[in-house]
Amino acid sequence: SLPVPNVQSFAASKARTEILEKYIRPELNDSTLVLNAADDHDQGDIPVIDLSRLHHPRHSEDEMLKLSLSCEHWGFFQLINHGVPDEVTEKMKVAMGEFFQLPLEEKKEYGQPPDSVEGYGQAFVVSEDQKLDWGDMYLLSTNPVQGRNLKLWPANPPTFKEALEQYSLEIRKVTHVLLDSMGKSLKIDKFDDLFEDCLQSVRMNYYPPCPQASKVLGLSPHSDGGALTILLQVSEVQGLQIKKNGVWLPIKPLPGAFVVNIGDIIEIMSNGKYKSIEHRAVVNTERERMSIAAFHFLSFHGQIGPLPETLEKSEPCYKTLTVQEYTRMRFSFKLEGKNILDHMKLG
Ligand code: SIN
Ligand code: FE2
Repeated sequence: SLPVPNVQSFAASKARTEILEKYIRPELNDSTLVLNAADDHDQGDIPVIDLSRLHHPRHSEDEMLKLSLSCEHWGFFQLINHGVPDEVTEKMKVAMGEFFQLPLEEKKEYGQPPDSVEGYGQAFVVSEDQKLDWGDMYLLSTNPVQGRNLKLWPANPPTFKEALEQYSLEIRKVTHVLLDSMGKSLKIDKFDDLFEDCLQSVRMNYYPPCPQASKVLGLSPHSDGGALTILLQVSEVQGLQIKKNGVWLPIKPLPGAFVVNIGDIIEIMSNGKYKSIEHRAVVNTERERMSIAAFHFLSFHGQIGPLPETLEKSEPCYKTLTVQEYTRMRFSFKLEGKNILDHMKLG
């Protein structure tokens, strides 16, 4: 990967008046339509799923159907009544905020090792002419526990390690409830077992304010390469947009809700029934924005392809690769668009 400047310190310095050409996205000038919250559009807002209803004796059936339709038509939903204690999310938000306020030198002690995206740094850059994202990130593997690289976990703030440990554990519980319900809806036997003790990593995203916010992106358009992502909005500053019928739709998270999205792996395994949708992050002229994404990958060392249950009535729409082949391909690509899915598509 190529060296990328630290965006937070860059934003705090000369960038007040000018920003490097490397960040400017000419494509934002033209017709990339963004729906306004005030626009009278018929797309509606992303669906809201109530996790407490998924196992409720009377409401389960309705909520399962709603979940399944959300995954088919949106690939995104907000999750409420998820059972993650407020103290746990609050502690995580505070710890993350304090980490990003540390002096650059201290944050750099946890910097990404060469050719790795784990640690403090920026999104993977594979070519000299690639446009850069207006954001810094801090990615840590959280599960399985023996896969943690504790050298990259910060000493400061002192609450950080415990906060991340508790947060990631709670998020795993939520993930398993969702995967279990999705498996039942898809009529895939033991779907959740494929994710038992699954790989989980947590990425904290920090987007400094940008004087030319409308000309840059905090995060390039992409679909997620994992199975399921659970996103927490840290402050009230919004920025996530999803691509729906060719236009960018801003997401307004409900207070206390998570934004959940299907990743490429579930699209492939469900043979295209559930959708992994492109999304991006925009930034603000005045205020910083922070978010926390928890990614969940498979646990087993088998294969990634359409599952047999999905092939009873239809032909496979995607190739099957081993987890190793899939992982290699994923990291050789730039994080952009739906390039993993395009590569996996048959016919
Ligand atoms: C992501 O796509 O992982 C993060 C988007 C966001 O910051 O809202
Ligand atoms: Fe994403």
